[in-house]
Amino acid sequence: MPTIKELKCYSIDHCPFKSFQNWFEEALTKEENPSAFSLATATSQGVPSVRFLLFKGLENGKFAFFTNRTSSKSKCLSENPFAAMAFYWHKSGKQVRISGKVEEMNRELVKDYCSKRPRLSQAATYVSRQGQKLESRDELIKSFEQCLQNFEGKSIPVPNHWTGYSVIPHEIEFFIYGEHRLNDRFLFEKKGTESWEVSRLAP
Ligand SMILES: Cc1cc2nc3c(=O)[nH]c(=O)nc-3n(C[C@H](O)[C@H](O)[C@H](O)COP(=O)(O)O)c2cc1C
Repeated sequence: MPTIKELKCYSIDHCPFKSFQNWFEEALTKEENPSAFSLATATSQGVPSVRFLLFKGLENGKFAFFTNRTSSKSKCLSENPFAAMAFYWHKSGKQVRISGKVEEMNRELVKDYCSKRPRLSQAATYVSRQGQKLESRDELIKSFEQCLQNFEGKSIPVPNHWTGYSVIPHEIEFFIYGEHRLNDRFLFEKKGTESWEVSRLAP
């Protein structure tokens, strides 16, 4: 954990995306599952829900993840397209929180990503209607095996129920643990269409 002295001269890149990349690259070298993040959504009535997902990249200032259109998160996002993400990297004592508007990804990008996944993951995605009630686990395994058999020697199509989303942030907060809980926090707030204002927050 950084000492008071170390944090005294701690600084962060003035671009929130560069700061995120720097912290994420550090997490890639230290953490067991650096891509895991929690995603909070809410229904149009404001009922919240949260789950862990895998971060799949930062492109043009948008944070990407992939999921199933039949899921409850997708239902929430269709009613209320705002979400919050949180990463926690234990070994570096760092947290990043991102909130913003969510948009569904272009179909070509979804297909491109899916086609690069391992074949067995593609089959699992093809047969899963995420969140639907199953009569038994066997039902799922049978349809998985059936899918592999049906598409033997062929590529597994990207199902319509598989999609990707991008979070377009309006706020990004970087937190680092400090000695005696004198943590450090940097809040980036989007001002206008391009620029960001950064403030240091009390822990
Ligand atoms: C570490 C971790 C990573 C996960 N990554 C994903 C993911 O990238 N996409 C996904 O749809 N579900 C992922 N899941 C499963 C979700 O947490 C969740 O169970 C599923 O998406 C259904 O969520 P919902 O009912 O809130 O929509 C992951 C779970 C864990 C524990």
